[in-house]
Amino acid sequence: KKRVFSGIQPTGNVHLGNYLGAIRNWVGSQAEYENIFCIVDLHAITLPIDPKELHTNSRRLAALYLACGLDARYCKLFIQSHVREHAEASWIMNCFTPMGWLNRMTQFKTKAGNNMDTVDTGLYCYPVLMACDILLYQTHYVPVGDDQRQHLELTRDLAQRFNSTYNQAVFTIPEPQIRTVGARIMSLEDPTKKMSKSDPNPNAYINLLDDPKTIKKKIGRATTDSERLVKFDPARPGITCLLEIYRSLTGQSQETIEAEFAGKGYGDFKAVLTDQIVETLRPIQARYHELMSDLPTLEGILKQGADDIRPLAASTLQHMKDVVGLG
Ligand code: TYM
Repeated sequence: KKRVFSGIQPTGNVHLGNYLGAIRNWVGSQAEYENIFCIVDLHAITLPIDPKELHTNSRRLAALYLACGLDARYCKLFIQSHVREHAEASWIMNCFTPMGWLNRMTQFKTKAGNNMDTVDTGLYCYPVLMACDILLYQTHYVPVGDDQRQHLELTRDLAQRFNSTYNQAVFTIPEPQIRTVGARIMSLEDPTKKMSKSDPNPNAYINLLDDPKTIKKKIGRATTDSERLVKFDPARPGITCLLEIYRSLTGQSQETIEAEFAGKGYGDFKAVLTDQIVETLRPIQARYHELMSDLPTLEGILKQGADDIRPLAASTLQHMKDVVGLG
């Protein structure tokens, strides 16, 4: 079986974009692959975060992974900092990463903004750690949303360069898996921006744990326009964003959806969309609360996951150290 690796930062507010762009696809293809899914807490400390919150968020995210349908029979779930090989490999890889390559990373530029002198270097080296997450496990496929495309290209470039520097196949060259539908869910407030965990305005995203009332409110006030035509149209990003969410949730074609709402207004469409989201999230939330009420079991799954995958990470790291001349 081919190996899949992916991860999410435990920074709170896991949202519908994370679900439709990533988790749901992991669930859908888990039986086909050997899967490793990570809670990337080392990435979460690249921006200030409260220690207690980080610790709790990591467990919450693990519970959400399982609640969304990841099955421990097919998947290893683990917390990144529990496998120390990630940090060690990342240091070595930093020493083989041209600054020019990192200077081009758009996510760094966005997150650093005007604070280039004060952001921590961890944020700058973030993509190198991400590359090592993937490369340590000889990963074939990395299912992610569209915003990770550039990081995946960097991962491939780093792997190829390292391999050719030492003329050895230390790393498998991974391929991104980015779907055509749901890979870029937009903000409900400003549909020209992606839906983001770090958005200061909670109305911009649907949290997977939002209750039905909150979802109704957020969809109700989601940005549309005055045209009142329920059609996919790049010139009208508001309604198109909502239609994309509906398309991604139902798996229906654009034509079918437009036909369903022909002659109907935004209010009708928003009501149906709200129901669709609520019904998708209802079983996930129920299962989530069950899992969170038994933390020892959850910790056990995470410990087992880390124990099972550590040997593979350790062997790749050893290979890296051998070719470099360390140890
Ligand atoms: P993160 O935590 O920002 O996002 C997790 C996953 O959700 C996807 N995603 C979206 N998909 C569709 N629409 C959106 N609006 C949207 N927002 C986020 C992301 O593309 C991602 O798949 N750097 C990564 C975490 C990471 C990682 C890795 C991923 C660390 N190491 C190794 C894969 C492999 C990140 O910050 O994702």
